[in-house]
Amino acid sequence: MSNLEIKNLHVSVETPEGEKQILKGVDLTVGDGEIHAIMGPNGSGKSTLAYSIAGHPKYKITEGEVLLDGENIVEMTADARARAGLFLAMQYPVEVAGVSVSNFLRAAKTAVSGETPKLREWVKEMKTAMENLKINADFANRDVNFGFSGGEKKRLEILQLELLKPKFAVLDETDSGLDVDALRLVSEGVNRAHRANGNGILLITHYTRILRYIKPQFVHVFVDGKVALSGGPELADRLEEEGYAKYEAE
Ligand SMILES: Nc1ncnc2c1ncn2[C@@H]1O[C@H](COP(=O)(O)OP(=O)(O)O)[C@@H](O)[C@H]1O
Ligand SMILES: [Mg+2]
Repeated sequence: MSNLEIKNLHVSVETPEGEKQILKGVDLTVGDGEIHAIMGPNGSGKSTLAYSIAGHPKYKITEGEVLLDGENIVEMTADARARAGLFLAMQYPVEVAGVSVSNFLRAAKTAVSGETPKLREWVKEMKTAMENLKINADFANRDVNFGFSGGEKKRLEILQLELLKPKFAVLDETDSGLDVDALRLVSEGVNRAHRANGNGILLITHYTRILRYIKPQFVHVFVDGKVALSGGPELADRLEEEGYAKYEAE
């Protein structure tokens, strides 16, 4: 069981017009093995928060810290953070031409665990995980995300979550663009990974519908680069009724 503490996080990016501040003092603690949802309007900085936790080099942390199980990770490279147990399911997964899904997954597993998984067990585990997510076996030989539909890309992200078994997972709008069946499959995958590994989860979403399947203990409203309000699951219901405008105005 792992926890994540974000303290007074300020993040900026370089733009042609100069440095732009996006995160303006994020404070958030996800306790051991908890699931927290972050909800907020488009452009409020949710993906920036996800990238900043994962270590995207474009996002410059100008102030504050991020602690994974008490260890400050902000000086670490993205791959070092992954080895430390962090995982990011991206809102827009990238296509990697020339790298097959099976090679990618095995290389990723080897990189994060420090040893090559035993082939027989690995193939079995991969097959089961793919069946659970209803990913056709052919996908193992296809290039990563290349020509995948939106829903297929999101399922591949969750396949990684299940196989890599991170200590802490940030899921950035894993629900967006999914139909009801895909949403259920993806949610079941997240719940299965959580049950098996007890990982902490930060679930970023724009809509409340994924919260019918994945039950967070806490919900945070994210507005203009910081947490505007935190509460229990009932907060999500209020957002569904009221929208975000009220919090944006404040
Ligand atoms: N790499 C970047 N360069 C310039 N602006 C960026 C970059 N990344 C994010 N932004 C800006 O920061 C704001 C927050 O974006 P983002 O984190 O993607 O929000 P959200 O995920 O909540 O929709 C937006 O105004 C966006 O245009
Ligand atoms: Mg986003």
